[in-house]
Amino acid sequence: MIFRVRKEMATLSDKYRKRQEHRRQILLRIHRYGKDILKSSNFQRTRMDIQHGTVSVHNHCVSVAECSLEIMEKLEKLGIRSNERALVRGALLHDYFLYDWHKHTQFKGIRNLHGFRHPQIALENAKREYRLSRREQDIIKKHMWPLTAVPPQCREAWIVTAADKYCSLLETLRLRNEKRGSVLLRRAANR
Ligand SMILES: [Fe+2]
Ligand SMILES: [Fe+2]
Repeated sequence: MIFRVRKEMATLSDKYRKRQEHRRQILLRIHRYGKDILKSSNFQRTRMDIQHGTVSVHNHCVSVAECSLEIMEKLEKLGIRSNERALVRGALLHDYFLYDWHKHTQFKGIRNLHGFRHPQIALENAKREYRLSRREQDIIKKHMWPLTAVPPQCREAWIVTAADKYCSLLETLRLRNEKRGSVLLRRAANR
């Protein structure tokens, strides 16, 4: 009995280790393609603004990039390939609107307009600081579909749109908190 319990515990910790290692690899890929964005002062500032629940805009965007890469990996197993660089950079910048949407006076009384307007604002902000590919622009501009009239035009934008909805749901239901992600990302980048 004791041996069986030990064996099961060893299997569980092995699975946990593998999952952590996989996550570390994903975060390293985010760092590889998005290093300049992650280190920029404006992106760092997004740590101060809450996106959903207790999660900052910064960690929300990193989570969306992480989830997008996981979806990409699943699609690759089916022989469907995506542009990894565009996926990571588009995901990191998809909510680059740079204001606290809970307080922003521009949307007072009609706060819900934030949902419709922020993709365009994020795109304009991102364009000012980065050279964006057409795929990256499409990701940022369409990530709120179906709130945007025109649906995503490339596979990467569909992936980020799905990842964004999934992460937003977990954060809104408080199934994911602020601590997840940022510490691991720092560790992964420093190794
Ligand atoms: Fe958004
Ligand atoms: Fe988002």
